[in-house]
Amino acid sequence: MLQHVFLASLSFSLVYSYPYTMIVTYGKPTNYTGYNRVLNVLSWEKCVMHCYNLPFCLFAYSPSSTPLECYSFYAKHMLFEVEKTTSANNSLVAFKVVDDKRYCPIGDNAPTFGNAPNYGSVSFGKSNTSYVITPEPGPSWKIHYNATLGCQYDWGMFTRPTTKWCIRVFGNAWSESYTQEAALAFCKTQNATLTGLDSIEERDFVAKVALTRITGYNKFAGFWVSGTRRPECYFDGWENIPYCTGANPQQFNHTDPYLTNYSGYTWDPSQPDWSGNCVQMWIRDPALNPEYDYPHGNSDDYDCSTLNRGFACGKLPELTFN
Ligand SMILES: *[C@@H]1O[C@H](CO)[C@@H](O)[C@H](O)[C@H]1NC(C)=O
Ligand SMILES: *[C@@H]1O[C@H](CO)[C@@H](O)[C@H](O)[C@H]1NC(C)=O
Ligand SMILES: *[C@@H]1O[C@H](CO)[C@@H](O)[C@H](O)[C@H]1NC(C)=O
Ligand SMILES: *[C@@H]1O[C@H](CO)[C@@H](O)[C@H](O)[C@H]1NC(C)=O
Ligand SMILES: *[C@@H]1O[C@H](CO)[C@@H](O)[C@H](O)[C@H]1NC(C)=O
Ligand SMILES: *[C@@H]1O[C@H](CO)[C@@H](O)[C@H](O)[C@H]1NC(C)=O
Ligand SMILES: *[C@@H]1O[C@H](CO)[C@@H](O)[C@H](O)[C@H]1NC(C)=O
Repeated sequence: MLQHVFLASLSFSLVYSYPYTMIVTYGKPTNYTGYNRVLNVLSWEKCVMHCYNLPFCLFAYSPSSTPLECYSFYAKHMLFEVEKTTSANNSLVAFKVVDDKRYCPIGDNAPTFGNAPNYGSVSFGKSNTSYVITPEPGPSWKIHYNATLGCQYDWGMFTRPTTKWCIRVFGNAWSESYTQEAALAFCKTQNATLTGLDSIEERDFVAKVALTRITGYNKFAGFWVSGTRRPECYFDGWENIPYCTGANPQQFNHTDPYLTNYSGYTWDPSQPDWSGNCVQMWIRDPALNPEYDYPHGNSDDYDCSTLNRGFACGKLPELTFN
């Protein structure tokens, strides 16, 4: 079996010097909070090396060897469980472990890791987290960490396709105070940035909390979220660039690095209308503003220098040690 030979030779070639070993076997991740797709990786060995070389990576995966798709799982992704599979499934995994036993499993559903718990350590921001991979007799390997990912008090936690994400809404009840630039600067003081709206849940959270941050004006105000129109989408001739038109999300550049799905940006009727190049969310208490029958929390492109009442910041969760 070609795949078998491929796997066996790889297992031997990837035994590294202490402290890390990549243990290669057949499997499929089944419980995790996110992952990272690595593009332009042409071989499984390169995929494994990619993870090996990153201090924050603990696991590599390809659902098939041809064509190869390379996924890496970092500390922030909290991989919890990997199902054991066989060569027939042709799905490859590599665990990073602290291991100098120089033992690698070979073959279908091998006695992986020498039937003993193995452990690893990966970096997450300024901390390290350790994890234990237990030799389950059952159909999967389980990974336990000495830390959990969490959001600080008053930050909401959301699950995005590639990570968990924390969002907090800030506002000034008494006055309109923040340009988009000032909002961004404030988020930086929280080690965060203006958040994007990756889902309806994120939109609704920001809209709901923002209402509690403001008084007066019939609870009607703009709050900044991530999104600044790209220059080519407002300079002369922008109408001829397809991605600049309509509500196309590509017309905006984002400071939120983990925004992949723009479904939380639901636009007011006739928006965006190029009346400004930054994105704000309209906060309007539905009970006090019955004339608006479209969702509280809709988006609008607005003048970046407008003084708004508030904004929403976003950042990665942090590790809390057990
Ligand atoms: C995934 O693993 C976590 C941590 O062990 C556990 O709390 C959660 O219930 C698991 N989820 C599923 C769907 O098995
Ligand atoms: C692996 O292959 C077996 C046999 O074809 C199949 O029953 C099983 O569902 C597969 N497992 C996965 C995770 O795809
Ligand atoms: C994290 O691990 C790396 C590599 O093992 C090590 O160099 C570093 O000192 C560790 N950092 C902390 C805070 O323990
Ligand atoms: C968690 O594991 C890391 C890496 O082994 C270690 O540096 C850290 O001290 C551990 N934290 C606790 C609270 O055990
Ligand atoms: C931001 O990060 C710095 C450095 O890690 C830390 O000292 C500070 O307390 C953090 N600020 C907040 C608001 O989390
Ligand atoms: C887009 O945003 C990123 C991150 O803030 C920034 O580095 C980059 O310069 C911006 N690009 C444009 C065209 O504005
Ligand atoms: C974005 O999220 C929506 C709603 O959660 C989902 O239906 C859609 O498939 C997602 N789109 C992409 C490209 O992931």
